[in-house]
Amino acid sequence: MQGKDEDRSRVGEAEEGPWWKEGIVYQIYPRSFYDANGDGIGDLAGIIEKLDYLNDGTAGSLGIDAIWLSPIYPSPMYDFGYDISDYCAIDPVFGDMKTFDTLIEQAHKRGIRVILDMVFNHSSHLHPWFIESSSSRQSPKRDWYIWRDGRSEGRPPNNWLSAFGGSAWEWHEGTGQFYYHSFLKEQPDLNWWNPDLRGAVYDVMRFWLDRGVDGFRLDVVHFYVKDRLFRDNPRGMTGLTKGILPYDRYRHLYDRDRPEGHEIFKEMRTVTNEYPDRMMVGETPYEHGASTAVSYLGDGTDELHLAFYFKFLLARWRRRTYRARIDDLYRVIPEKGWPCWVLNNHDVPRSIDRLARPFEAEGRREARAKAAATILLTLKGTPFLYYGEELGMRNGSIPRSRLRDPLGKRYWPVYKGRDPARTPMQWGPREHAGFSTVEPWLPVNADYRRRNVECLAGDETSILEYYKMLIRLRREERALRRGDFEWADGSMSDCCLAYTRTYGSEGLLVVVNFSAVPQAVRIPRPAAWGGWRLLLSTHPRPRGIVLGAEDAHLRLEGFEALVLKGEGRP
Ligand code: GLC
Ligand code: CA
Repeated sequence: MQGKDEDRSRVGEAEEGPWWKEGIVYQIYPRSFYDANGDGIGDLAGIIEKLDYLNDGTAGSLGIDAIWLSPIYPSPMYDFGYDISDYCAIDPVFGDMKTFDTLIEQAHKRGIRVILDMVFNHSSHLHPWFIESSSSRQSPKRDWYIWRDGRSEGRPPNNWLSAFGGSAWEWHEGTGQFYYHSFLKEQPDLNWWNPDLRGAVYDVMRFWLDRGVDGFRLDVVHFYVKDRLFRDNPRGMTGLTKGILPYDRYRHLYDRDRPEGHEIFKEMRTVTNEYPDRMMVGETPYEHGASTAVSYLGDGTDELHLAFYFKFLLARWRRRTYRARIDDLYRVIPEKGWPCWVLNNHDVPRSIDRLARPFEAEGRREARAKAAATILLTLKGTPFLYYGEELGMRNGSIPRSRLRDPLGKRYWPVYKGRDPARTPMQWGPREHAGFSTVEPWLPVNADYRRRNVECLAGDETSILEYYKMLIRLRREERALRRGDFEWADGSMSDCCLAYTRTYGSEGLLVVVNFSAVPQAVRIPRPAAWGGWRLLLSTHPRPRGIVLGAEDAHLRLEGFEALVLKGEGRP
């Protein structure tokens, strides 16, 4: 449709691997990116206005290859769009279908692919499918959702809990049965055992693929299929909150991660394969190891294209932890599969605060963030960025009266929810951070007058310019995009991490100091390399200096990260 092929030719060169392996994806939370019509909420027209910031083809822009938009469909917004009431339309708060088509066209023109967030575990309770399904027990769509009789009068069918609190079963007076919701009661789960429902979902995918969308981020893929027998979950501590939330006091053997799910991902792969060059990336469990994450890739060719590995995203700033998490994923990735890496998203606290010590000085925080970015953008695998990460945006501090996230409202102050990572993008030193002309839906962060795109752009020492340099480097160096990964174990303190990326005769060395104290490092020169050249550092250093033909003797400043290039033999 719409003669997209012309646009695409600018993006993919024949010689390159698929864009979703070699490119960099940038997640936009549309409510918070840019508000073009002055209602305090970000929108599609706002994203279009800012596409040049993301990639205008020059070194001045960020230079990313794809954007992933959190949900933009009609929704009553109980979970800010993750409760969809129409899978094939645009919520008026974000714009309309015409604006969406323009967004696709304008993005493709700049070589930016567009990935949509798809929530297929559940819909909104206001979706016509659910309204129909709940109208009577005889409804032809009754079985599109999960309806059960109680165990006995007033008792839910089993002990499964909602990830967002309380029982996962909601009594429906009208038809005298319970329906199932893994999240809010306004988010009833779809019944993936029903073949008609599956067909309808695949048609939704085709609807957007026909419009030129390049792929999907699939919400909570591990929730799709539930145990057919509805067996009770055994008790046992799991999860991230160590049992603070009741949900984490059960082992989720039967309500999630069912082996039967893989058949679905195979079917979805067949659907995306009907179109050239499309991809799917899945959200997987936060608390499980890398092998669970990669299980959604099948043999690497027959299920999802990519799957997030969140233990990496949750890792603290420790050399040991980073090394272990990186090993975890590389060890289990199927031979034909491809890794991806992420430090931030709309559900977790911002990495700049997570990696820092409490009350740490700003300079140090930023130094850690730059070093972490170096790792993210030099590993083997597709990097995912989250809006504002490139500015070093921090967690917002949101007064209780302005909380919007249903989770924050429910669990405050034990857990303050996800609003802190969703505050408005900081564009300029103006009122409302240049995000909007009116008070935004969430308050802007206190540091916006200094920390914003306008003030950081062009300042060579800023985190924004550092992200741009890293992204450019990844674009220039094939070894970073597709080369092999290997640890480089020279002699160094156990505060440092070093690895090489090699592609044919090309090779790069990355060295990162995790400590605040300067460290000396000596790395033996690989036999194939004639010498070393410094390409990039988080700290001011003369770039391009040749370090000679010997082993690399380096002295790294606190939290310094370096990228060196191996020179070919003369
Ligand atoms: C995913 C989304 C999250 C949402 C939940 C329910 O975890 O990332 O934002 O609340 O699913 O859809
Ligand atoms: Ca708006």
